[in-house]
Amino acid sequence: MEYSIPKGVFDILPEEPQKEDAWRNAAHWEYIEKIIRELAKDYGCREIRTPIFERTELFVRSVGETSDIVSKEMYTFTDKADRSLTLRPEGTAPVIRSFIENRLYTQRPIQKFFYIAPMFRYERPQAGRYRQHHQFGMEAIGVCSAEQDVEVIDLLTEFYRRLGLKNLKVAINTLGDQDSRAAYREALHKHFQLHLDRLSPDSKARFSRNIMRILDSKSPEDQEFIASAPSVLDFLSPAAKSHFEKVCALLSALGLEWEIAPRLVRGLDYYSHTVFEVSSGQLGAQNAIGGGGRYDGLIASLGGPDIPAVGFGTGLERILQTMEKQGVQFPSPPGPFIYFIPLGGQASLQCMKWTAALRHSRIPAEVDLSGKKLQTCLQTANLLQAVFCLVIGEDEQRSGKAQLKEMATHQSKEIVLDDLVGIIIQYHQEKKGKYHE
Ligand code: HAM
Repeated sequence: MEYSIPKGVFDILPEEPQKEDAWRNAAHWEYIEKIIRELAKDYGCREIRTPIFERTELFVRSVGETSDIVSKEMYTFTDKADRSLTLRPEGTAPVIRSFIENRLYTQRPIQKFFYIAPMFRYERPQAGRYRQHHQFGMEAIGVCSAEQDVEVIDLLTEFYRRLGLKNLKVAINTLGDQDSRAAYREALHKHFQLHLDRLSPDSKARFSRNIMRILDSKSPEDQEFIASAPSVLDFLSPAAKSHFEKVCALLSALGLEWEIAPRLVRGLDYYSHTVFEVSSGQLGAQNAIGGGGRYDGLIASLGGPDIPAVGFGTGLERILQTMEKQGVQFPSPPGPFIYFIPLGGQASLQCMKWTAALRHSRIPAEVDLSGKKLQTCLQTANLLQAVFCLVIGEDEQRSGKAQLKEMATHQSKEIVLDDLVGIIIQYHQEKKGKYHE
């Protein structure tokens, strides 16, 4: 097709798409967003919305020049005034830019933000990996404590629990403080030096530019040397060690299940201390459904005050796909409370008036204006899962009475048309809990 959708992106549709693509159903997105907003309230997080593009330099400085995101995956363009701009590949840097620029740190000692936003990465598309994906992200800015790390991890796992997800793996690691990382880099240098000629071309480049990035390599030829690499846990400063031990103890105290993954470094350069990733066994290669960590130096490095922070991002596509694979049921969105089928022009006008009156009373109502045969209109009422249906033809108009049909029970009741709006409003009140939230 001449005007087909670009590679790596997708439509979210109001119709149920093909079975295997049910994650693109807009009703599922609406449901997950509702859960996010409830969760955010329970954890005291407030929404922040930043633009879809930022100055390129912001991501280079924060995510890191040698990261895959910055070196290979950014959608960067120059605007008409020759400024370099980039479609947001992740949410943390824009939130921090906004936090600094709007001086939000002057408002409260701890700020907890959340966002639901599209991100753009020029990656090789495959199942679970897209060029536009959506993240629910959370950033807690203000304190460097193990308690704060654990609150963020608890929020993330509680999100998955509320969605009904099971069998997720929560992997935790620490990258320590600057001293720990300096010692660890030296040890990695010694280790990888021995195997340099057998590393992948990307990892050879990482060896001199940013050695910890090698641990994040997915190249098969690197895996053996990554597995035998020293563990960061042996190079922690006493302060970093104590922070990490406290995180582990608190996670257990809250009853969360987790495991230590000593080679977990994450793909972005701004992290220090705690890092974590949640994966699903059901997703194949792209199994990370969420990840995050502490980034204490980022705010200062972007020109703000020296304030610590921790957060996560979790991919909504991968979550929806996991929910589907695990057979999680989504609530079906409510159909119209009443579906009018007018037979003839006069009846249409009357039905439109009732429909408008009911909608103005905040009752979902629909009138069939298709002009199709009665049978087809009834099929549509069924398809839309209308609660009631009312057919108005010449007889009904003449007698001033009609049969109000309850679709689920197939039972009909005669009503006086002059009373119709009042009756429907009353039924809606009575059946609200049953049919509509
Ligand atoms: P990230 O691990 O790069 O972290 O992305 C977070 C999540 O977004 C991943 O776990 C994955 O579920 C999803 N994701 C990433 N790339 C794609 C893709 N191409 N297609 C589909 N889903 C994808 C961050 O972005 C950090 N900003 C998280 C964070 C917030 N750290 C601290 N605060």
